[in-house]
Amino acid sequence: MTKLPKRAFVYVLGIIVIGLGLLVYSIINVKIDNIWAVIFFVILGVVAESLPITLKRDSVISVSFAISIATVIVFSPAIAVIIRFISAVLPIRKHNGKVSHLFNHELYKTLFNGSSRVITVFIAWLSYDFLGKQFSNITFLDYNVIGLLGLIITYIVVDTFLFAALFSLLQKIKFKKIMREHLWTIINCLGLSPLGVIIAILYNWQQVFAVVLFFGPLLLARYSFKLYIETKDALQGTIQALSNAMDAKDHYTNGHSHRVSEVAVHIGQIMQLSERSIERLKSAAVLHDIGKIGVEDMILNKTTKLEAGEFSKIMEHPEIGAKILEQVHNLNEISEIVRYHHGHYNGEGYPVIPSGFDVPIESYILSASDAYDAMTSDRPYRGALSEQEAFNRMTEGSGSQFHPDVIDAFVIYYKKQRELESDVC
Ligand SMILES: [Fe+2]
Repeated sequence: MTKLPKRAFVYVLGIIVIGLGLLVYSIINVKIDNIWAVIFFVILGVVAESLPITLKRDSVISVSFAISIATVIVFSPAIAVIIRFISAVLPIRKHNGKVSHLFNHELYKTLFNGSSRVITVFIAWLSYDFLGKQFSNITFLDYNVIGLLGLIITYIVVDTFLFAALFSLLQKIKFKKIMREHLWTIINCLGLSPLGVIIAILYNWQQVFAVVLFFGPLLLARYSFKLYIETKDALQGTIQALSNAMDAKDHYTNGHSHRVSEVAVHIGQIMQLSERSIERLKSAAVLHDIGKIGVEDMILNKTTKLEAGEFSKIMEHPEIGAKILEQVHNLNEISEIVRYHHGHYNGEGYPVIPSGFDVPIESYILSASDAYDAMTSDRPYRGALSEQEAFNRMTEGSGSQFHPDVIDAFVIYYKKQRELESDVC
């Protein structure tokens, strides 16, 4: 633990002290009427925690979220805290072929996991209790609806916040960026929350067998989610392999695709494209020049001016790229974006845009991001333009080479970047 960066060390220590304090207080004050009920929920919690799904930056999620929600509804805060702590520290997990458990896991990590969960459960219970009393007349099956909503939202917010803060301190990544990356895990938790409520209701109706039956669909949901993550990882692997192949071929544009991707994603976000569209844009940006695989090395790496015949070969790369991507499962949807990444808003550029065809907006974003990075990079046949000069050319091309909406968003992006740079200086 002493190897942690100073701020992360203080944070982890603070969470452990608060969490263990709450746990000790709960143990001193707990009154247990039915020990078998506690053992039953501990077993459900440990099984759920033992089957996690690993996400970005080694964070994990599991269906234990639903069990935790049920625990808070069924038990007093002291019992819920104790159950959650035991469920968080006892699991046996397999990751990258290695089995980890309480006795071979670093103690401070185990304590942080347990303590952060204790804090989350405690705050979520307070919210459930407070809102339940404030809105005691809004009920469904004798359960307070506002209290339940408060419990679920508080649990998700506190849990996500505690872990996002840790990753932000450990990996020096902006807190906002981590929260954005985990947005869909929050959505996943929201999707699981009704199952947690149903488990609590069934348990309170003395239907222990039904609770076990409901645990089945929970594990099934976990399995489907795991498959989804694996498919996404496989797709990322394919994109990376294609991108590496492209970089190996064209030495002068090494790193270009990733820079284009970064600019394109910013523009897409400013234009408020959907998450799905931004994902497509990101993949298309990384792979936009994949068609250069089909262009001779001699032409690609030529340091002098290209002959007309050679340039026409280069002009084939969007079409070749689109055809490659059409053959790859899950990437065929970005083939049209790649095909028209050298198309101009006024219909010029290449390849020729069929009349009546609506070029995807992502292609226009890609085209502008590609042009900006090309202008501000050194090439064998010319030096890089200054950022201001490139910016002027971009705005001059609005409505002719570039889509005006894209340039409007680009201007916002450009100004933001300059502000950030001046802040750093
Ligand atoms: Fe290109």
